[in-house]
Amino acid sequence: MFIYAANWKMNMSFDKAIGFCGENYEDFVAISGLKDKKIVLFPEFTQIKSIHDIFKDTKISIGAQDCSVNEPGAFTGQVSVESLAQIGCIYCIIGHSEVREYIRETPEELAVKILRLSDSKITPIFCVGEFLQDFLGKKYDIVIREQLEAVFELIAGYCDIDFYIAYEPVYSIGTGMMPEICHVEEVFDLILQVACKFKLDNKIKLMYGGSVDEKNVQNFKKIKNLSGFLIGSASLDFKKFKKIVEL
Ligand code: 13P
Repeated sequence: MFIYAANWKMNMSFDKAIGFCGENYEDFVAISGLKDKKIVLFPEFTQIKSIHDIFKDTKISIGAQDCSVNEPGAFTGQVSVESLAQIGCIYCIIGHSEVREYIRETPEELAVKILRLSDSKITPIFCVGEFLQDFLGKKYDIVIREQLEAVFELIAGYCDIDFYIAYEPVYSIGTGMMPEICHVEEVFDLILQVACKFKLDNKIKLMYGGSVDEKNVQNFKKIKNLSGFLIGSASLDFKKFKKIVEL
């Protein structure tokens, strides 16, 4: 199954998101029925339950853009994994570079999030990726290895669920600046190698995210070991998103 994850970030207000799903409902249902393709929508927290209900009789799945690291308790402003599971989330993005930038999650927190999600049968999509200066300075392998090892060593042997690693080079997010396919494949090999060291290689699948659109998707589908795309901007324009899924 190849996954098309539409990360809407905070781009759509509640009314806009509900309208977007209603206006494109028939086409959403049609593309979600395509063989071996899986569509997952990641709206804002406030929209998850309503969008889940709109698509409850279809093959479209709903995910969250983040979750709290804590168990239910006195944590003002946070959203628990428990609630996400109850309102129909079956995927959750963690470690997105935009979240890392604002709340500076530690590897320990990311590991706890993965384990909590695993306990609630929610599939984590764990994002990693280097900054432009790491890429230009040829330090990307060190950076990505560190991002993975620090989390993998805490979850190895404890994580019951299969999950995704999404490689999202930070300089490629929302910029139109795409890495070469050979670079993505090199990073994928590195991810698999690190996962193998922690005996997690049979638990993970690989995704790519960063400026994926209807023009470059065919080229990017050539990436070896690719199981899905994490799509930001292009997922906000239904025509573009549909084309990405169909191509
Ligand atoms: P863009 O597709 O807008 O580059 O965003 C990618 C992303 O951050 C998906 O999580």
